[in-house]
Amino acid sequence: MLSKTNTGTASPRCRNVRTMNGTPPGFLAQLVIFGGGGDLARRKLVPALARLARAGLPGGRVQVVGVGRRSMSDDAFRTELRGGLAADTAGAFDAIARDVHYRSADVGDLGSLEQLRVALDALAGGHALGRVCYLALRPGLFGTAVALLRAAGIVHRHDHEGGAYRRVIIEKPFGHDIASARALNDAVHRELDEHQVLRIDHYLGKETVQNLLGLRFHNAVFEPVWNRHHVELVQITVAETVGVEQGRAAYYDGTGAMRDVVQNHMLQVLALVAMEPPSSLDADAVRNQKVEVLKALREFDSEDAARHSVRARYAAGAAGLRGYLGEDDVAPGSTTETYVALRAEVDNWRWRGVPFLLRHGKRMPRRFTEVQVQFRMPPIHLFNQPAGMSASEYHRALRDGTLCQIRPNVLTIGIQPEETIGLSFGVKRPGPEMVMAPAALAFDYRRHFGVESAEAYERLLLDAMNGDATLFLRADEIEASWRFCDSVLAAWRAPGAVPLLDYPAGTWGPPEADRLFQGCEGGWSRG
Ligand code: BG6
Repeated sequence: MLSKTNTGTASPRCRNVRTMNGTPPGFLAQLVIFGGGGDLARRKLVPALARLARAGLPGGRVQVVGVGRRSMSDDAFRTELRGGLAADTAGAFDAIARDVHYRSADVGDLGSLEQLRVALDALAGGHALGRVCYLALRPGLFGTAVALLRAAGIVHRHDHEGGAYRRVIIEKPFGHDIASARALNDAVHRELDEHQVLRIDHYLGKETVQNLLGLRFHNAVFEPVWNRHHVELVQITVAETVGVEQGRAAYYDGTGAMRDVVQNHMLQVLALVAMEPPSSLDADAVRNQKVEVLKALREFDSEDAARHSVRARYAAGAAGLRGYLGEDDVAPGSTTETYVALRAEVDNWRWRGVPFLLRHGKRMPRRFTEVQVQFRMPPIHLFNQPAGMSASEYHRALRDGTLCQIRPNVLTIGIQPEETIGLSFGVKRPGPEMVMAPAALAFDYRRHFGVESAEAYERLLLDAMNGDATLFLRADEIEASWRFCDSVLAAWRAPGAVPLLDYPAGTWGPPEADRLFQGCEGGWSRG
């Protein structure tokens, strides 16, 4: 359940069992990170735990156990983690360092995992401590890892069997297409109940993404206009300045922008923008509504793909920026896209006919993630008629675009780095003439609350330990997202159907993407 504070509230079914056999005093959970020696643990998970502890982790301390194939002492592991921390989290880490451990094990070897289970139980001191296993592993290992973790007794089916809960967090990418996602879901469900499985999409941990629900369903003003009668289009952008970061080419080149960001982060944001009001904030109530949107996304055929999708790859750009093909470890003949623009449609009662314009690219001029809800133009233009122009000339000029002074109202939700909400509108300019000028209402999270938003992983780790699955993806959500993405990817595979375009690194992507606005006011946001 989404709660107002960061503590989350466990649903009764998932509530921690912390009394049987006596939980070690002050401990909330044991968090076992498989792939503990890797980048994600160092850059995201451990800093998030340190910040949570500094903020006074509700519920107690967390016992962190990094697991990897390398052998390493607890102290060496702590030193390695501390070395990667920014100055502001290093102190917080020192305060939790005594709760951080390392055990070596091979996640593909049952005997090794059985030894690990003994070690984990020993670290828990014989107490029934809830355990969250975080799989920060190569995606190809997820299915086998879950099966072997269960065979070794590190996890078991059902949350509370044996006195303490057992949960598994699975990182993205969850599958490569719908067939592999289904196969992975089947493999996971053979071992665990759905409510024990927490498929992560870190976008859902972002404060501003969670606020999409708050904004829509706490404020009665939006609901009456949140539909095809009043909304002309919805635009969602995830623009990044980075290219393929060091060490990621092997993953990225086999993945591409569509699978890496559109299939998960962007479709999740779209689902939150377009969903019906849930009956409660219970995990399943929210996810039921999201999945309905994802199922209503109209699949592309080859004609849709040709008209409504653009794919591209960055080429060498100004200031010595390398092209994608020149990046280390990218295959010479690669046809992987680093940019996608789509004109999607949610085929349901509320949204039929409203374009959802999605755009994601690497090596763009600015980093920003944003949602824009653009409302329809007023039916009649009464204002800003130049002196001496007759009403009919004026209306003709507006129609053919020679005069375009009126802008639609746009609700802009800045997800990052600016965490903002803005509404553009027109206002009468002071003076004797009735001339309207553009204006905006603006809200800024940081300025308003005077605090930095928590990092996404802080919220997600806390929810995982508290048994709150609202911000994690359910099996059917993942499959519905893949169904849509697969239809686009299949159309792209047809020879010549949708060419792979180039754009210079550091620019806004190919101009061909502008045509996706056909028939609508406006153009791509520049943040
Ligand atoms: C990850 C993708 O899931 O999200 C990356 O694999 C991408 O390629 C990143 O850069 C973007 O996340 P954020 O939080 O920086 O917008």
